[in-house]
Amino acid sequence: MIKTQLLTEKDIEAAAAILRAGGLVGIPTETVYGLGANGLDPAAVRRIFEAKGRPQDNPLILHIPDPSWLERYCRDVPAAARRLAEQFWPGPLTMILPRRALVPDEVTCGLETVGVRCPDHPVTLAIIRAAGVPVAAPSGNRSGRPSPTCARHMLEDMEGRIQAVVDGGPCGVGVESTIVDLTLPVPRLLRPGGLPLEALEAVLGHVDVDRAVTAPLSPGEKPRAPGMKYRHYAPRAPVTVVTGDGAATAAYIRRQAGANAGVICFTEYQEQFPGCTVRSIGPAGDRGEQARRVFDALRSFDGTPVTAIFAQCPGEEGLGLAVANRLKKAAGFQIVAAEEGEP
Ligand code: TXA
Ligand code: MG
Repeated sequence: MIKTQLLTEKDIEAAAAILRAGGLVGIPTETVYGLGANGLDPAAVRRIFEAKGRPQDNPLILHIPDPSWLERYCRDVPAAARRLAEQFWPGPLTMILPRRALVPDEVTCGLETVGVRCPDHPVTLAIIRAAGVPVAAPSGNRSGRPSPTCARHMLEDMEGRIQAVVDGGPCGVGVESTIVDLTLPVPRLLRPGGLPLEALEAVLGHVDVDRAVTAPLSPGEKPRAPGMKYRHYAPRAPVTVVTGDGAATAAYIRRQAGANAGVICFTEYQEQFPGCTVRSIGPAGDRGEQARRVFDALRSFDGTPVTAIFAQCPGEEGLGLAVANRLKKAAGFQIVAAEEGEP
């Protein structure tokens, strides 16, 4: 058992020293907290997989402090990637590009591509610069759990397993980065995230949406982002996502929710589920707030008597695509449609 230190925003050099020495540090980003290691040190990267209990075929994102580092780790960088970096970095966008040989197989899990992102958090940018190496970092949850959006969540999952967590406050975006694969003839969205698809398309033109974003995979099917095949973001109690307009979904949930039900809902509906354990994720029209709160809501049912969770779900415009994807994945794509106009 490792003694996990809780560091503050001022402890930049201490965090960088742990990374340089091959240790693991929980780092704040604008999306979710990451579990960082020196991305050029294969032994350090292997420790990430151990600490998370992460499947060996699920590659990691390399975090860089500045777009100028992109060419160090990627080759054949297309003009589209440069345009995206200029527009959206630092920010919640990960680009999949051909990797250079110095990126260890431990990071890419043997793929010929690597995911790279420049996170928009001053503390983590300073830590990466001070360490002087790119930082490989998956989300800082134990594998399968909801991603951490504050230092407390990271400690819940990683205390005793990693050297330190840097508390940089709650995450401003709250869902992980958008992942776009730029190695195909048509760019493809592999994971919706903090940068809306509409913003990507404003720069790239049409972007294909990988099937794994909206539908469960058939047995044996291999998604382009290996992580999309795993059950994910899941609280201990099973989740059912209810789609349809707010009034209809609230009515459906009221009818179905038995004793010990949990409800994830929009603020407007939070009084409508007496006897249930209710978590609001923000107003129906405020997808930014829903993104910030969805993982905390999913986590909050663990350790309560709740045995079944029902969730209202936003439409798929803007950040709604990412929020809906996280809820549906948490539900293992257990989705029901409430009829329009139900009493
Ligand atoms: O916002 C984020 O992206 C956060 C913060 C910490 O930066 N990181 C994050 O990492 O969400 P992780 O490991 O939880 O999710 C990375 C996803 C996985 O689904 C993985 O399969 C996919 O990215 N991925 C990584 N490298 C890839 C590659 N070369 N090709 C396709 N998918 C890749
Ligand atoms: Mg993750």
